[in-house]
Amino acid sequence: MTKPHDAPNASADSTLAARGGWAEDFTTRTSSPPVYMTTAFDLHSLDQLDAVTGGREKGYIYTRDGNPNHEAFASDVARLERAEAGVVTASGMGALTAVLMALVKSGDHVLAARVLYGRTGQLLNHLAASFGLKVTYFDVADLGSLPSLITPETKLCIVESISNPLLEVADLPRLVSALGAVPLLVDSTFGTPCLIRPIEHGAALVWHSVSKYLNGHGDVMAGVVVGSHSMIRKIRAMSSLYGVNANPFESWLASRGLRTLPLRMERVSQTALTVARFLEQHPRVSKVFYPGLASHPDHALAQRLLPHGCGGMLAFDLAGGRSAVDALFRALADVIPFSPTLADARTTMSYPAGTSHKFMTAAERADYGIGDGLVRLSIGLEDAADLERDLSCGLRPRV
Ligand SMILES: Cc1ncc(COP(=O)(O)O)c(C=O)c1O
Repeated sequence: MTKPHDAPNASADSTLAARGGWAEDFTTRTSSPPVYMTTAFDLHSLDQLDAVTGGREKGYIYTRDGNPNHEAFASDVARLERAEAGVVTASGMGALTAVLMALVKSGDHVLAARVLYGRTGQLLNHLAASFGLKVTYFDVADLGSLPSLITPETKLCIVESISNPLLEVADLPRLVSALGAVPLLVDSTFGTPCLIRPIEHGAALVWHSVSKYLNGHGDVMAGVVVGSHSMIRKIRAMSSLYGVNANPFESWLASRGLRTLPLRMERVSQTALTVARFLEQHPRVSKVFYPGLASHPDHALAQRLLPHGCGGMLAFDLAGGRSAVDALFRALADVIPFSPTLADARTTMSYPAGTSHKFMTAAERADYGIGDGLVRLSIGLEDAADLERDLSCGLRPRV
């Protein structure tokens, strides 16, 4: 059976995403893949057990180790990221846990970007405090000193392609060349393979919070990591051992969400740029962070690395601090909700100082540029003019 993605003209992202690679169960000819909601798979002999576990026969044994829905989703993401293989996990944090358990051990050294999703930093700090991992944070905007931070124990470097929440863009080609033989792990949750494909710039592994754009409908909690066959084999073994495997139905939902990813990324990139320009002119907004704006420090880099747009995430500072943010959230609760997630079909707002980056001290947050007036906006699929009208209304001074 020819798989849809093997067809000669199926190389554009939109075609790859829309068709997917599903070709497992053509006996029933379902037009959508079934959900394999099963704990285990029956075997007919011990010889078959040996053949499947030994990789000589295609098959599944136990859903924690593998399931057709997991494989369908992970291999579709791998194809879009131009990676050899992938593994889907219970959450984005589950993917990071599996990667770290596969690639580092006590006494090893990890380099990590200074500004990362708060829980990523929290997990690294936990492993440093409790398990003897050494972690050095560096400034992604200043790569000159990076080679001097590498030691013989350095096993991994972790960055975000577009950072949460300040939308810094990582110069992946320069990073890869500065790192030499040290493998680069890129969290491309904000980037998605539609905007940037880190493997093509030399990264070893890419991971995503699938809970965000790859699924895109605010109804899944999952993660995925893609890379070479050999690395993914080790990471899959750790995902199974630590039990951070995904659920088949969520993999199925994520596969469905992935079908429209290119369309959604194109749309949110256009709307986010329009809204960012609008906010930049607004008198109550002191600063807007969006790499598509000429005022963003990484604008030139974004033009080079993100030619298809900068995505749907932006952040802005309100001069009035926390109370101004609270007033905005209360005013807009029914139209642009305060929801501590992102990449839903609807636009949502979040408050990094109180959610994703709450685990840092106030001094650390201030040092990172995450102030008490910072609002993170996740642009959805609504009309840009409606969003501008809602934001104007929410930002109107209250008497
Ligand atoms: C950039 C980024 N990476 C990773 C994660 C963690 O993903 P999850 O919540 O699916 O565990 C998040 C969650 O918000 C995120 O924003």
